[in-house]
Amino acid sequence: MRVKTACLKHFLNGLVDEIAARGDWGEVADYIPELAKVDPAQFGVSVSLADGTQISAGASAERFSIQSISKVFTLACVLGRNGEQIWTRVGREPSGTRFDSILLLEQEKGRPRNPFINAGALVTTDALLAHRAPKDALSEVLAFLRAAAEDDDIHIDPAVAESEARTGFRNVALANYLKSYDNLHNPPELTLGTYFHQCAIEMTVEQLARAGRVIAQLPDAPQILSPEKARRLNALMMTCGHYDGSGDFAFRVGLPGKSGVGGGILVIAPGRASIAVWSPGLNLYGNSLMGTYAAERIARFTGWSVFG
Ligand code: DON
Repeated sequence: MRVKTACLKHFLNGLVDEIAARGDWGEVADYIPELAKVDPAQFGVSVSLADGTQISAGASAERFSIQSISKVFTLACVLGRNGEQIWTRVGREPSGTRFDSILLLEQEKGRPRNPFINAGALVTTDALLAHRAPKDALSEVLAFLRAAAEDDDIHIDPAVAESEARTGFRNVALANYLKSYDNLHNPPELTLGTYFHQCAIEMTVEQLARAGRVIAQLPDAPQILSPEKARRLNALMMTCGHYDGSGDFAFRVGLPGKSGVGGGILVIAPGRASIAVWSPGLNLYGNSLMGTYAAERIARFTGWSVFG
C-alpha cells in the first residue's frame, strides 16, 4: 500500500499528541543505572520511505541508547565476515524466555536459542571479536551503522557502557556459562566489555530509521547488505526480536521488529519503509510500552504487514 507523505506526517503528529495525552509511559530500565536517569515521558518517531523521503515527529532528534537493537547490526557484520558459520554456535528459534534468561542454556548445552537473547548476542559479539582488539570490533559495528544511516555522527556513550559493566551481573554469569561450554572463544571479560559498549551506541530515531533502510532493502539504501541476508535478519526480528513478547508483537504489529531496553524499536516493512520509534518506559517484557503501541498504530494506519 502506498502512503501519501503528507497524510503520514499528519498522522504521526497526531500520534505524538495522543501518546502525550495518554500519559501511560511504563517504567524505565533500572538495572543499568545510567538508563534509570532517563525521563520516561518522551516519544519520538521517524519513518524512511521507499521514495527516499523521511518523516519524523516528536523527540526525533533526541539521542537514546540503542541497547539490544545493536544486536541486529552486530549479526549483520558477523554474517558478512563469517557467513553461515555462526549458526554452529547459536540457534534460530524463539526462546519464550526473558532476554537475560539462563534457563535454556544448561538444557541446550551452552548453545543459545537465537542471536537476540543476551546469551546469543554474547556469542555473536564473541564471533565479531575473533581475537581482535575490542576497539576494532566496535569500529566495524559503528562503521556499518554510519554507512547504513549515511551519517558519521553515531557514537558510543561510555557512561552507559561503564554503568552496565558495573551492574551487568547476569551477563557476566551468561558469558562464564558459555565459556564453560567452549562457546566463547575470547576471555569472557573481553567479550563482555565489547558487548556492553556495542549496547551503549546512541542514536536518534532519525538515524536509526535511515540505518534500517538496508534491512528494509529500500531503493535508496546503501548497498551494504545482500537481499538474502536482509531476509534472514527480518525473519529473526519477526520471530525473536521481542524475546518472550515476540508473538505478541507479531500479532499486534505484523512486521519484523527489534527492541532495546533503552526504549527504542526498529520496525521493518520490507521494501516499503524503515520505522524507528523511541519511548524509554518499558512493558513487562522489557520492550518499549509506547513504542510498541506506536508501531501498532502506524502498521494499522499504513496497512503495512508481512502477513498480507
Ligand atoms: O544486556 C543487556 O541486558 C542490555 N545491554 C541489553 C538488553 C536489551 O536491550 C533488552 N531489550 N529489550
